[in-house]
Amino acid sequence: MKCKICKAPAQVALRAHNAGFCRECYLRFFSRQVSKGIEGQKLFTREDSVLVALSGGKDSLALMLELSRQGYRVTGLHIDLAIPVSSAAARAVVERFCAKHELPLIIKDMAEEGMPIPLVKERLRRPICSACGKIKRYWFNKTALDMGFSALATGHNLDDEVARLFSNTIRWDTAYLSDQGPLLEGEDGFARKVKPLWRLTEFETANYAFLMGIEHHYAPCPYSAGASFTIHKHLWQGLEEAMPGRKLDFYQGFLERGRPVFARREAEEGVTLHPCSQCGYPTSAADLCGICRIRDAVK
Ligand code: AMP
Ligand code: FES
Ligand code: ZN
Repeated sequence: MKCKICKAPAQVALRAHNAGFCRECYLRFFSRQVSKGIEGQKLFTREDSVLVALSGGKDSLALMLELSRQGYRVTGLHIDLAIPVSSAAARAVVERFCAKHELPLIIKDMAEEGMPIPLVKERLRRPICSACGKIKRYWFNKTALDMGFSALATGHNLDDEVARLFSNTIRWDTAYLSDQGPLLEGEDGFARKVKPLWRLTEFETANYAFLMGIEHHYAPCPYSAGASFTIHKHLWQGLEEAMPGRKLDFYQGFLERGRPVFARREAEEGVTLHPCSQCGYPTSAADLCGICRIRDAVK
């Protein structure tokens, strides 16, 4: 196969685009998709200071590297969950990556914050991964707000987004359908949240990480049986093979024609949030927010 742009021998084949690319042309294709994703949805500009949540996985590291190459002002944020073995390995990968590319990095250590995940797991009587997700999102948001960043970016890709959208759809979860997408505007107590890799699949991001020589850490959570949405991702892979391009069409169609309808409906229903009496984080709970309840349970 030859590169569709320059006819050199292809190194990457993309079915959805029915095309092969050489290294240089592939990197240009990837950059173009990232900028289209950012500019098309008005995620942020080069004036913004963007905090990028780095797990140590290939998606978030690829995102950080590409944003810095495109001249965006980025700082990494890693949440050290204090899970034996895997957290230290993920943290080390993130630290080496930021040192190598001379990118600023903030680390939030959950052991220092009094909520190491193994201890939270011991004290809580519900599945740890949902609490862990909540803890991560709380620290993403808090760090972005406290340190004055204008946006918080995560490495979610098209496969993550389509699988989540599909899961929300088969449950007709209108609350989630009303605000799922690559951009969640900031509001009182909430930082602006963005997902600049929304146009790129896991495979496309993996290719970029490989071609750029990004060392990453593959660590499924040791407390859960499997990654989230595995079945949905599998189903969508079959659909995409039969109908190349369907994933991106489905997601873009939702953003243009689905989400606004659900958003209007949710706005009519209106849930009221108020500050948590302990930490000030907005919550719909009567008194303490979910994180302060976890903190108290762990104490
Ligand atoms: P996941 O939910 O593990 O698929 O991760 C989705 C995104 O959340 C990643 O691409 C990262 O941007 C971010 N993320 C997950 N875990 C961490 C962590 N421990 N520290 C910082 N960011 C994280
Ligand atoms: Fe963090 Fe499972 S404990 S995702
Ligand atoms: Zn080429």
